[in-house]
Amino acid sequence: MIAEIADNVHFVGAIHWDRRLFDELIPLPDGTSYNSYLIKGTDRIALIDAVDPSKEEDLLKNLGAKAESIDYIIANHAEQDHSGGILKVLESYPMAKVVTNEKCKKSLMDLLLIPEKKFITVKDNESISLGDKTLQFIYAPWVHWPETMLTYLKEDRILFTCDLFGAHLATSDIYATGGRVYEAAKRYYAEIMMPFRNNIKMHMEKIKDLDIEMIAPSHGPVHNPEFILDAYQDWVSDDVKEEVILPYVSMHGSVEKMVSHLTDALVEKGIEVKPFNLTKTDIGQLAKALVDASTLVLAAPTVLLGPHPAAMYAAYLVNILRPKLKYISVIGSYGWGGNMLDQLKATLPNLKAEFIEPVIIKGYPRKEDLAQLDRLAADIQKKMNL
Ligand code: FEO
Repeated sequence: MIAEIADNVHFVGAIHWDRRLFDELIPLPDGTSYNSYLIKGTDRIALIDAVDPSKEEDLLKNLGAKAESIDYIIANHAEQDHSGGILKVLESYPMAKVVTNEKCKKSLMDLLLIPEKKFITVKDNESISLGDKTLQFIYAPWVHWPETMLTYLKEDRILFTCDLFGAHLATSDIYATGGRVYEAAKRYYAEIMMPFRNNIKMHMEKIKDLDIEMIAPSHGPVHNPEFILDAYQDWVSDDVKEEVILPYVSMHGSVEKMVSHLTDALVEKGIEVKPFNLTKTDIGQLAKALVDASTLVLAAPTVLLGPHPAAMYAAYLVNILRPKLKYISVIGSYGWGGNMLDQLKATLPNLKAEFIEPVIIKGYPRKEDLAQLDRLAADIQKKMNL
């Protein structure tokens, strides 16, 4: 797909309509795109980011139609879904140089074996001229790798942000916006950016005085800056919604009964609850729910002397995603023993949340066990000041 987004600035990337998994981990219900942008100045031509190797033929075809030459390949990020196509572009345009920062250069040399002589390195805030267009490079490390940077096209006021502000969303409408884009961008933030929210806060402060007309990421559509910056401001803030995320797994019905009782008790108190059956849930949906929530209650039975592996997997994911949770608890049932609680708690060292007294029972819940779940619902309500 080729689309003009400003005078002499074209989208020349690739849409991956049917990709369904990223990093062999993240579900992609809406596919994705690998955006590349071709910028033609009066003196020089630059390509911003390449594409995933699986789509490099699309990029080359688009470049064949639009680029008689390429002087600079700007690499904002070394991960292969944006850099994998660089080798093929260099083959087709052997005079081109890869422009990036020192750290990204080293990553590209390691990951793609690009020889050092092919690089030009730039410092933070350094600019290069394409003639009537100027590219300024802004370091923005840790979104989500350490070598990332942004590229600002001064004359057209476009900020190319690679992964930052992106969305895994395949669409032929480069200007798509609204609810579908918001949800895809939030899911993307949750899965990839959430552990780095403090870095993102700093980067947003760094770019706040830039005059930006368009934000052009390398996944999904381009954005009106206000739309995506407002959304990110909300997601990276310390504010939480008073709601309970309840990932659970149940083998013989005991935990399911506990989850159902706790859900009803919380709802009766006016507290929003989002249960996720871990045997069926899309982990991207779970991650998205964790962006705003104040409270997590993990629910599990024991298997072979420990928590059910699905609950351990969920705990591990929560730990690496570092959501801004304020409270955590655990509920569970065992048949004859096993230390579920300590193992689950030990899997969550990154979280700064307060632990609320758990409810761990033997067998199917009795009346007194259900009363304990009512006590947990009351504790949660008290913490939330509702
Ligand atoms: Fe879209 Fe970190 O690559």
